[in-house]
Amino acid sequence: MLSFLAPAGRDHFADCSCGHGHFSERLAQCLPADARLLCLDIDAEAVAATTRRLARFGEQCVVVRGSYVDLPDLAAGVGLGPFGGIVIDAGCFSREQIMSPDLGLSFSVDGELNMKLDPQQPGPTARDLIATLSARELAALFREAGESPRTARLVASAIERARASEPLTRTVQLARVIEQAVDAAHLRRGERHPATRPFAGLRQAVNRELPTLEQGIEAAVRSLRPGGRLCLLSYYGTEHALVRRKSRALERGCICPPDLPVCGCGRQSLLRRLLRDPLPPAPREVRANDSARSARLHVLERTAALM
Ligand SMILES: C[S@@+](CC[C@H](N)C(=O)[O-])C[C@H]1O[C@@H](n2cnc3c(N)ncnc32)[C@H](O)[C@@H]1O
Repeated sequence: MLSFLAPAGRDHFADCSCGHGHFSERLAQCLPADARLLCLDIDAEAVAATTRRLARFGEQCVVVRGSYVDLPDLAAGVGLGPFGGIVIDAGCFSREQIMSPDLGLSFSVDGELNMKLDPQQPGPTARDLIATLSARELAALFREAGESPRTARLVASAIERARASEPLTRTVQLARVIEQAVDAAHLRRGERHPATRPFAGLRQAVNRELPTLEQGIEAAVRSLRPGGRLCLLSYYGTEHALVRRKSRALERGCICPPDLPVCGCGRQSLLRRLLRDPLPPAPREVRANDSARSARLHVLERTAALM
């Protein structure tokens, strides 16, 4: 990813989901002395950790709490932008967050079924969804996360039966219901824990991951200078598809019917895709971090067209 950003000169860069700042630190180490880096995260602990990690870079790096959906305003607030390079690691959660019992994201760490990354964010928690959605709606959420229709139905019906006898409020309690619902043959065959996709579906719905990412891409495009690059990491099927669809739409210019002699829509291409096919991680990256195995890197370059 660093090679696509190629930091040089007095440019501004943004790491829009900096987590605990591992990537931001590597980027900061490559920055020329007069370049600046803005790091964003919606999670207070992530912001504190990145602030500590980047302290030695002084004013060259600014760490701000906020959502990348608001990148243009947040950047203007600290006098940064337009950017020569923007990174969105759409992984949504860091390892530290997954292991936190307060967030309730992991089926193997006991905690309240919460899953809200930002406690201020309106909308239901995972516990609310489990208590109120119909079996049909739950199955649809699990399918969105890549679960097969049959297993999604099986798991959703088991949840419906279990919640009739006691409220499902804890992560491991839900994981047990799911394990019991999925037959032994599936368990033997499956490489993943059977709760992986149902938990991912709940997490995606609670945090509105796909609509947020779509708005984040638009915000990033607005914040790039002509020739600036957006490097985006997506992690699962519907996320890969959303990034592909959105980047193709932004790359496409005129949408007039081909038989129209003169363009009437006035649309211009805002982006150029530098990689036709998004890049998978190198084997050594997967060895170092197993959760990187499904990541795909998309690289998009801003044109000079006005939005
Ligand atoms: C996979 S981690 C990023 C790890 C980071 N690249 C690193 O090197 O440490 C994803 C981060 O995205 C943050 N995040 C999720 N949604 C966000 C949003 N809408 N705006 C900003 N940050 C967000 C999470 O809080 C989490 O810290």
